[in-house]
Amino acid sequence: MKRIAVLTSGGDAPGMNAAIRAVVRTGLANGLEVFGIKHGFAGLISGDFISLGARDVGGIIQRGGTMLGSARCPEFKTEEGQLKALSQLHKQEVDGLVVIGGDGSQTGAHALSKKGFPVVGVASTIDNDLYGSEITIGVNTALNIALEAIDRLKVTASSHHRAFLVEVMGRSCGYLALMAAIAGGAEAVVIPEDESDPEDIAADLRAAYENGKGHAIIVVAEGAKLNAEGMADYFHIHQERLGFELRVTKLGHVQRGGAPVSSDRLLGTFLGSAVTELLIRGEHGMMMGLLNGKCTATPLKEVVANIKPLDLSLLELAKVLAK
Ligand code: ADP
Ligand code: F6P
Repeated sequence: MKRIAVLTSGGDAPGMNAAIRAVVRTGLANGLEVFGIKHGFAGLISGDFISLGARDVGGIIQRGGTMLGSARCPEFKTEEGQLKALSQLHKQEVDGLVVIGGDGSQTGAHALSKKGFPVVGVASTIDNDLYGSEITIGVNTALNIALEAIDRLKVTASSHHRAFLVEVMGRSCGYLALMAAIAGGAEAVVIPEDESDPEDIAADLRAAYENGKGHAIIVVAEGAKLNAEGMADYFHIHQERLGFELRVTKLGHVQRGGAPVSSDRLLGTFLGSAVTELLIRGEHGMMMGLLNGKCTATPLKEVVANIKPLDLSLLELAKVLAK
């Protein structure tokens, strides 16, 4: 193996830069030439490759986002798009590819791998919904940002005796919402994996006031069936009967933009380095994630075929602790 390339794909995640840096410097230390591909699979299809030396990845470990840029690229889901990507890799004489991203990106990596190209993946998404990694790059930074927002909202909520709904990211996984609710001391949490009734939520909030709390916070995952809009409408229509008003704060992409916390810098570094060594050893078709605290490779085939379950017993814990 002489030349490898690395790309970041899908939603950016704080710590992706640490992973890029680790791939580049581990590759260089092993005598490889390393290329970066701009804007994910879109840049792979258009041939947007740049040569990366050790200095090119200097000063990025502390930065959020990704120095390579990322993209959602529908064309790569097609056979034609994947063939164009393969021909660019051959044209640039690249022998192996590292794909840093979430479940969609790992599905893309698997598609190339099935066509016989040596591809490895790195588990990176703030959603923490990837099978094959207990925690993924960016989760802890996003969680800390959500917690800072909840802590601040509690202050103003207490001053005005108001209820607040905080919407956090999570298309189909409630991990961020559940952990933010537990670590932020929220009174209620609504996630995609569970059915919620607005009357039950209202009862939880009323109980909080009756128990002497000055605030009431509901954390809602953006992908929940009972979403922020639905809840806000319900509380608005029934405000008089429920006895309090609900204000809504959507954190949105604010959660993705932060500087990576220490654990995301370290996770990006360890996974990036381990996956490059794996590729150099000639092992591919795998994604590197963290299992039992160790960098562990799981076949991409398994990664894309399985859903990582959320520990729903933690919903009960969140309820007990909110009393
Ligand atoms: P994430 O990787 O953060 O989950 P997406 O789900 O948007 O983000 O996926 C990122 C990109 O991965 C997509 O824009 C597409 O280029 C590629 N991808 C997603 N699903 C597939 C698929 N089934 N086949 C091939 N490529 C895919
Ligand atoms: O997958 C990461 C994520 O941040 C999800 O939580 C969110 O639903 C989605 O990406 C937002 O995507 P976009 O940045 O394309 O709006």
